[in-house]
Amino acid sequence: MKRVDDFRLQFGKQELVPIMIGGMGVDISTAELSLEAARLGGIGHISDAMVPTVSDRRFKTKYVKNKLQQYKFNVENPDKSVVQFDLGLLAEATALHVGRTMEAKRGPGMVFINCMEKLTMNAPRETLRVRLSAALDAGIDGITLAAGLHLGSFALIEDHPRFRDAKLGIIVSSLRALQLFLKKSARTGRLPDYVVVEGPLAGGHLGFGEDWAQFDLAAIVVEIRDWLAAEQLDIPLIPAGGIFTGSDAVNFLEAGAAAVQVATRFTVTRECGLPEDVQQEYFKASEGDIEVNHISPTGYLMRMLKGSPAIGNGIRPNCEAYGYLLDAKGHCQYIDAYNREVALHPEGAKVRVWDKTCLCTHMRNFDLWTCGHYAYRLKDTSRKDDSGRYEILTAEHVFHDYRFSTDNRIALPE
Ligand SMILES: Cc1cc2nc3c(=O)[nH]c(=O)nc-3n(C[C@H](O)[C@H](O)[C@H](O)COP(=O)(O)O)c2cc1C
Repeated sequence: MKRVDDFRLQFGKQELVPIMIGGMGVDISTAELSLEAARLGGIGHISDAMVPTVSDRRFKTKYVKNKLQQYKFNVENPDKSVVQFDLGLLAEATALHVGRTMEAKRGPGMVFINCMEKLTMNAPRETLRVRLSAALDAGIDGITLAAGLHLGSFALIEDHPRFRDAKLGIIVSSLRALQLFLKKSARTGRLPDYVVVEGPLAGGHLGFGEDWAQFDLAAIVVEIRDWLAAEQLDIPLIPAGGIFTGSDAVNFLEAGAAAVQVATRFTVTRECGLPEDVQQEYFKASEGDIEVNHISPTGYLMRMLKGSPAIGNGIRPNCEAYGYLLDAKGHCQYIDAYNREVALHPEGAKVRVWDKTCLCTHMRNFDLWTCGHYAYRLKDTSRKDDSGRYEILTAEHVFHDYRFSTDNRIALPE
């Protein structure tokens, strides 16, 4: 039986181990995790979600404090349209996060940045252009355009000197989404260097509706593969979502995938940004503890542990400090949900909001425990000690397990 290591991802002249660790915002896929993937010959992702906030934690900068200071006068105002990001500071924070990561890169692999286009930041085009350009300036190897795929993104950076040399990829969940993107970006004369095909079992936001369970990743990959072949388009396909063992990965590679993107297995590694007590919750989860719900204010479905503190929390919207989900008109679905509950409880008691969540605050604080469908199998990937605590793994261990395992086996730590 074959192993993942029998395959290689070919990017031009470069050969990589065909394992890509997916982006996990906000700083769950840390620089350290992405650097391990690169050191081991694969591809890792940092995330561009809330980079000023991440920079404050990583480099002791004061972007959040200063932004809150600047807009403090607006905290009680439900209209957040005045709360704008300073584009120069946004570029500076991105340069720090990406630049320091790339300086630390060792080994034959690559580090990409996952760009969540649903972070509309009260000025979608302007902020996206700055985030993409600043990441390219700072030497990122590649950019994966994710959630909310903005069809005009290639055009936003087509004048950048690295537009044709950096790897640019997109995440889609259907052939139709891919076709639309290719049509819209055809004018730039540039195809994506890779396409991540994300199925319904992935972590984070889902590119499917309420009927997500009726879709099958393998079937979507075959449909896209056959269409690309018929169109004579040679674009590497990278399936993602529910690929839990090396053997799962081999099945996709044998069916013509160029690599696989994986994430959930790495949430319980030392290099991952989740605090250890949260990682223990991931280990302990059973199938019934995982749900797909509507609480993300992006409007996309999201998969998470039911015990996430973010669910039902009624914190005041924190847009003056964060504000990453404000649309072009300074609006976020959580603001409406929160204000509705406040109006319903005029006595001033602490409100609970069940239908939406303040995604910025809770992702920042690691209180929204998003995970892939198979998170309930994480307990089979480690050892439990007498106190009931699971051993946190190393990224190298998990990477090697994907790379070398056969027969659906999962190697436990030594
Ligand atoms: C904790 C967590 C956070 C994630 N955050 C993001 C994100 O910010 N952007 C994104 O495009 N995908 C995100 N994803 C999806 C992953 O990058 C990946 O495509 C998917 O989870 C792969 O499926 P798997 O987790 O079953 O291996 C996230 C996944 C997890 C588990």
